[in-house]
Amino acid sequence: MVMEDREEAMREADEKAMPTRRAVLQAALGTAAVATLLSSLYVGAGLIPRVTKTPENEPPQEGDILVYATGAKMNQPILTSDLAEGGPFQLAFPMDPKTKVIRNKEPKNTLLVLKQPPGSYDAKVAAHAAQGVVCYSAICTHLGCTVSLWDAAQKLMRCPCHGALYDPRQDRVVSGPAPQALAQLPIRLEGAQIVVAGAFLGPVGAQV
Ligand code: FES
Repeated sequence: MVMEDREEAMREADEKAMPTRRAVLQAALGTAAVATLLSSLYVGAGLIPRVTKTPENEPPQEGDILVYATGAKMNQPILTSDLAEGGPFQLAFPMDPKTKVIRNKEPKNTLLVLKQPPGSYDAKVAAHAAQGVVCYSAICTHLGCTVSLWDAAQKLMRCPCHGALYDPRQDRVVSGPAPQALAQLPIRLEGAQIVVAGAFLGPVGAQV
C-alpha cells in the first residue's frame, strides 16, 4: 500500500509539472495568431505607398518664387502688379528660380496670394507680408479642400466644401467648421516677383 501511495503521488506531481495538452495547444494557437497579426502588419506596411521626396513635392523653400497655379498664365511668375488691391486672390505654387521646378506635386503646396492695403493687416500678419501682399496655404483646415472662392463683398476667403470663411487681414476663421486659421507663408518682394521668405507659420491642411 505504501508503495502504491508513493507511485500515485509521483504521478500527480509529474502531471502538475508538465503542461497539459490543452495548454500546449492554446499556446501554439496564440503564437500562430500573433505571427499572423505581425505578418498582416508587415504586409500592410508594404502596401502603404512610400512617397519619394522630389523637388516637385518638397514644401516651399526660401527663395522660391510664386507662380500661377491655374488660368492662362499657369506656371508663370505672379507679379505684384497683377494683383488688384482688395482682392481677389490668386492660387499659386512655389517654383525654384534656378531649376524652374514647380513644386506642384504636393497638394499642401497650393498657396493663395493677395494684396490688401498695407494698413489693413494686424501686426502679426503684417510682419510676414510685403507691401500689402500676403500669402497663405490654400488648404482648408477643416477637411483639406482647396480654399478657392473669394467673397468680394466681405473680402474674405471661402472654402467651397462646407463654407468656412477666412479673414486674410487677421489670419482667423470668421465662420464655418474650420478649426483654425490658414497657415501664413512669409514672403518678400524682389522687384515685382513674390519670393518665399520662410517656412509656413503653422500646420498645413486638415486639422480635425
Ligand atoms: S473642407 Fe473646407 S469647410 Fe470643410
